[in-house]
Amino acid sequence: MSGLFISFEGIDGAGKSTHIESLAHAFRAQGRIVLLTREPGGTPLAEKLRTLVLNDPMDAMTEALLVFAARRDHLQRLIEPALARGEVVLCDRFTDATFAYQGGGRGFDLQVLQVLESWVQALPQGGTAAIRQPDLTIWFDLDPDIAAARLVGARVPDKFEAQPVEFFRRVAAAYGQRLAGAPQRFARVNAASERDAVWQDVLAAVQQRGWLA
Ligand code: TYD
Repeated sequence: MSGLFISFEGIDGAGKSTHIESLAHAFRAQGRIVLLTREPGGTPLAEKLRTLVLNDPMDAMTEALLVFAARRDHLQRLIEPALARGEVVLCDRFTDATFAYQGGGRGFDLQVLQVLESWVQALPQGGTAAIRQPDLTIWFDLDPDIAAARLVGARVPDKFEAQPVEFFRRVAAAYGQRLAGAPQRFARVNAASERDAVWQDVLAAVQQRGWLA
């Protein structure tokens, strides 16, 4: 069986987490081996970088370099080997988050991000034609005002969660641009719906591609 790489995206408060767990359960129920992981993070080194990125003040370029450094380690040590073994990799955020948060939110140069993406995600077997991207990206699209209301009092906010709603409007717009640039890779789900309706949309996106019965 060939490996499968699915990423999950959306602004803070969009409610990805429970659905990622449910999807892992659904794949396992059909006999697949599932790797549940996240970015920034997933390896000991990348988790250390995550702590820095989420807590320490830094400029947008430093932030971008650190998330891509974390991604490099994550790809090399965890994601690529799992895909080579034919596993299902479910990743809570991937490079679209960098374009959305560092690009859209912080206003960092998108062309530089594209260069970093092409370096960091170069396929292990070499060649320049293609880079590693998720087979599917499920985008939990939610109005930033609704997300902000959901996050109030939920927990102590990290550096990003503490950003004003305007920041998340730019993040959401940048996700929309990523979708427009690769519509076949994305499934957009309306994250304002009831939880079960959102789950049905998530499941349908995977079933439509023939990956779950
Ligand atoms: P998140 O995925 O929301 O995890 P949790 O549910 O534990 O809060 O937190 C990760 C944060 O990191 C989120 O605010 C988005 C940010 N982020 C970036 O800014 N750039 C990136 O490239 C990635 C992967 C995440």
